[in-house]
Amino acid sequence: MQIRPRRNRVSPSIRGLVRETKLHVDDLILPLFLVEGEGINDQISSLPIAKRQSLDHILSEIKSCLNVGLRHFILFPAIPESLKDKTASYSYSSDNFYLKAASAIKEKYPNITLISDVAMDPYSSDGHDGLVKDGKILNDQTLPILARMSVAQAKAGFDIVGPSDMMDGRVGVIRDALDEANFQDVGIMSYTAKYASAFYGPFRDALDSAPKSGDKKTYQMDPANRIEAIREAELDIAEGADFIMVKPALHYLDIISDLKSSFDIPIAAYHVSGECSQILAAAKLGWLDLELAMHEAVTSIKRAGADCILTYFAKEIAKSL
Ligand code: PBG
Repeated sequence: MQIRPRRNRVSPSIRGLVRETKLHVDDLILPLFLVEGEGINDQISSLPIAKRQSLDHILSEIKSCLNVGLRHFILFPAIPESLKDKTASYSYSSDNFYLKAASAIKEKYPNITLISDVAMDPYSSDGHDGLVKDGKILNDQTLPILARMSVAQAKAGFDIVGPSDMMDGRVGVIRDALDEANFQDVGIMSYTAKYASAFYGPFRDALDSAPKSGDKKTYQMDPANRIEAIREAELDIAEGADFIMVKPALHYLDIISDLKSSFDIPIAAYHVSGECSQILAAAKLGWLDLELAMHEAVTSIKRAGADCILTYFAKEIAKSL
């Protein structure tokens, strides 16, 4: 035999030399869950690698991430039921603890990247990402609420806003609102191809944000669709998105790969709660090696074409790099 592919696998050092995909700490974004109060550091039973934390604990978490070089974060709020209403008005209210926390975080750590969540569901008494009327999710009436929420978040100090709602036309409306309020430098990481997935379960447990009735299938994409993701991406890019996201990640590697080869814009991928929980649960049962499975999963997402990876494993991976 003249040609032996195994020659390039004979030792760890040669494997390192020919490795095509190398994770870097700057590829990673860690999701954090914020609750109001002090001294709160609660386990999330269906996602045992993440916690629901008050600002003091979030600040120390960020500090320990910075110690391992991890500096990109996306913050989600768990809103008490008493502050939720039909129109998600607490989302842009001046006493909103999420907005105040963002200001405190950026004041203490100005050099980190802090990404927000733009959607009505954490604040909505209906638990939907848009305004609900007679059982329908209204698109155009939701847009001004998202725009107002985004401007409030930009004012609070978020570097990038992350519309996760899947309403049509929201990227353009948010871009205009940000520009009008003089936040030209605040970016938009759009959840471009967000699928109606079963793998968001633990996240909804964490935030208590599950829809009160119905499902999200009239706005989130059908898991069976691939070409439609291209159409969503074209729209988001035309409307001014700075990043386009695929979510979930592991079950949608083909979509990540399609978007990477079709567009010259950074591709983000969200390795979602249920995808991480699967690995954690199997590892807990002794069925998988956690460290190896974690690395393989996140490396696969990068290999498929993701430039930025949102994963609950970000800190563990950063430690090992
Ligand atoms: C909702 C939102 C969801 C996630 C991020 N933003 C869930 C949903 O659409 O119900 C899920 C993330 C995860 O599962 O880790 N705006």
